[in-house]
Amino acid sequence: MDLGLKDKVAFVMAGSKGLGKAVALELAKEGANVAIMSRNSENLKKAQEEIKSITGKEVLTIEGDVARKEDIEKAVKETVSKFGTIHILFANAGGPPAGGFFDVKPEDYLKAVELNLMSTIYAVYAVKDYMINQKWGRIIASTSISVKQPLDNLILSNVSRMGVISFIKSISNALAPFGITANAVAPGYTMTERIENLLKARVEKEGITFEEAQKSMITDIPMKRLGTVEEFASTVAFLASEKASYITGVILPIDGGFIKGV
Ligand SMILES: NC(=O)c1ccc[n+]([C@@H]2O[C@H](COP(=O)([O-])OP(=O)(O)OC[C@H]3O[C@@H](n4cnc5c(N)ncnc54)[C@H](OP(=O)(O)O)[C@@H]3O)[C@@H](O)[C@H]2O)c1
Repeated sequence: MDLGLKDKVAFVMAGSKGLGKAVALELAKEGANVAIMSRNSENLKKAQEEIKSITGKEVLTIEGDVARKEDIEKAVKETVSKFGTIHILFANAGGPPAGGFFDVKPEDYLKAVELNLMSTIYAVYAVKDYMINQKWGRIIASTSISVKQPLDNLILSNVSRMGVISFIKSISNALAPFGITANAVAPGYTMTERIENLLKARVEKEGITFEEAQKSMITDIPMKRLGTVEEFASTVAFLASEKASYITGVILPIDGGFIKGV
C-alpha cells in the first residue's frame, strides 16, 4: 500500500530513542523528510546515523526540551527553514516519574502537565498555520493506555495525559475543515529502553530474573507479549498517511488487548 508519504515533512518530538525514533524511522522509510527533537545531542546523533544508514535519508536533528515553548517554536522554525513546511506532527515526550498518590507532591503534577500536555499544545500552535495554509496536516499525539485505564503507580502519567485527549478531540473539530486530522495513539507496554530499564529495576529490587519480571508485565496482556516499536510506528505512519484521511478525533490503543473497557 502506498501511504503517500513521499516528500512529506514530519516533525517528531522526543524522537531520538524508543517510540519516537521508531516513528521517525518508519516515516523516513516511507520517503518523508524527518526532523527529530530531543534534549541530548549524542542520542540525536545516534538516531540520525541509524536512520540514514537504513533509509539513506538526511534527518534534521534539533536539540531542545519539549516542555519549553521557546524550544518547540525554535525547532518548528528550523524544520520549516530546512524542509519548507511541516505536514506531520508526532507529539511525544518522555514519561513523568513513576509513583502513586502518596509518593508525589502537588508540584510534580505541574511538571508532568508541562511535559506531556503543554508540549503537545505548544507544538500544535507552532505548526497549525503551515498546515492550514497548505490545507493538509496530520497531528498524532502519543499518550498511553493510562488514558483509558489509569495505571497503578503512574498517577502523574494518568492525570497529565487526559488533557491531551480532550485537546486532540477539540482541535480535530476545529481543524477538520482545513484537511487536517488530529488523533491520539495510546501505546501499551512496548519494548523500548525505558521499559527495559523498568524491568531491570524490578530485577534489582525484587531479586527476580529478567524473564520473571517480563512475565509479570505481560500477565494482563491478552497477546501475552510486549509490543514492538515497529508495530507502534507502522500504526502511526498509517494515521499520518493519505490513506487515513477520514479518521480524526480518535484514540487508538496499540496495546495487544490490554485495555479491558469497550
Ligand atoms: N514504551 C512503552 O511501553 C510506553 C507505553 C505507554 C506510554 N509510553 C510513553 O511514551 C513516551 C516515550 O516512551 P519510550 O518508551 O519511547 O521512552 P524512551 O525509550 O526512554 O525514549 C524517550 C525519548 O524521549 C526523549 N525525551 C525525554 N524527555 C524529553 C524532553 N523533555 N524533551 C525532549 N525530548 C525528551 C528522549 O531523548 P533525550 O533523553 O535525548 O531527551 C528519548 O528520545 C513516554 O512518555 C512514555 O511514558 C511508553
